[in-house]
Amino acid sequence: MNELHDFLVLHYIQGEEEPYRYDFTADFLRWALLPPGYYSDWHIAVRESATGELVGFIAGVPLRIRIRPKHVAILQTCAISFLCVHQKYRGQHLAPVLMSEISRRAQLRDVHQRFYTTGTTLPRVISMTQYHHRCLNFAQLNRIGYVAPPDGQTLEEAIASHRVPESTSIPGLREMRVDDVPAVTRLWADFSNRYSSAAVLSEQETRHYLLSPWRSREEGRSVFAYVVEAQDDSHDITDFISFYALRTVALETPNDPSQLRRVLDGANLYYYASTSTGSDKELKARLTALVSDMLVIAQREKLDGLNCLSVMDNCLFCAQYGHMKFETGAGLLKWYLENYRVHPLAGRDATADAPPGRGLGVLII
Ligand SMILES: CC(C)(COP(=O)(O)OP(=O)(O)OC[C@H]1O[C@@H](n2cnc3c(N)ncnc32)[C@H](O)[C@@H]1OP(=O)(O)O)[C@@H](O)C(=O)NCCC(=O)NCCS
Repeated sequence: MNELHDFLVLHYIQGEEEPYRYDFTADFLRWALLPPGYYSDWHIAVRESATGELVGFIAGVPLRIRIRPKHVAILQTCAISFLCVHQKYRGQHLAPVLMSEISRRAQLRDVHQRFYTTGTTLPRVISMTQYHHRCLNFAQLNRIGYVAPPDGQTLEEAIASHRVPESTSIPGLREMRVDDVPAVTRLWADFSNRYSSAAVLSEQETRHYLLSPWRSREEGRSVFAYVVEAQDDSHDITDFISFYALRTVALETPNDPSQLRRVLDGANLYYYASTSTGSDKELKARLTALVSDMLVIAQREKLDGLNCLSVMDNCLFCAQYGHMKFETGAGLLKWYLENYRVHPLAGRDATADAPPGRGLGVLII
């Protein structure tokens, strides 16, 4: 994992001129690549034969998705991520070779669908999503050139307007614990029926993806999950919400992945579910409250901003310039589900059967 970390720090960028890159730590990679039921032969590295140096990598993890129509059997997919080719070996068709090899290995396990996202436009896009960003540490994001004060505002005013409260507001909000896993798994299974496609999570997967073995980010914690426990005698879990942290770094010295300078710590909104689904208005109010509390917690964790994609019900609360202060990013992330015929799924754009976001109740790390 340490070798993979170093490889990704050096090469998981589009070109050498990009100053910043993600710091996928060994702990983060363990979380993303070793979920329950993972296959080690779906983690594929290509090495230079003379030196043994890593020149390419691709990973797949098992992911079950339910996809409309709702009664079809659940699809077992190979969710692909961390496709990366050494910059010296770019343009030599190593990427398609890695994709074919993972496909072959998946088929050997009777898994015939590859599921992945990328900024690159390839044939048969099933959905397109956009990033939305909510600054927390406006001063830092301004310093590195990610944001500028909106027209008519000074830097101080922008910093003040992005400040969030010191404490959370939802009664009963607390960190998720191991004994919440069955309730959270059931809540997700019910809630995710509202999406045209959704991750099907077992209790073991819920536990793995939402609960970290670590207490703090310093120790290696990536994922943070919270539940809302009813304040009556039932103590029912009425909601859960989660995010994961990912650091962006710069290299202190070219080609030296051991000396990294922290640039920013981002939080990425992950799975959530709520029982407040009576109407869009009700759900919007509940998600706004939940996400506002996540901003408080992210700030407490010294994270610099919260990102989310136009998936699930995120479009209810992250409208550009809305009062939650999310801004829409420039790039588009395209989604692919190979070897399966499916109508487009609502992401950034609505489809005939679903409003924006609600085609996708699934996230790929
Ligand atoms: C994406 C990346 C692996 C492509 O490698 P490359 O050396 O530029 O491309 P190759 O010469 O190996 O292959 C080009 C082919 O792969 C396809 N391809 C490019 N990116 C792809 C992706 N993310 N998934 C699947 N296929 C991809 C191209 O469409 C092209 O196909 P074509 O020849 O049929 O048009 C490389 O640019 C990289 O490591 N980028 C940084 C990490 C990254 O962005 N990974 C994608 C994660 S979303």
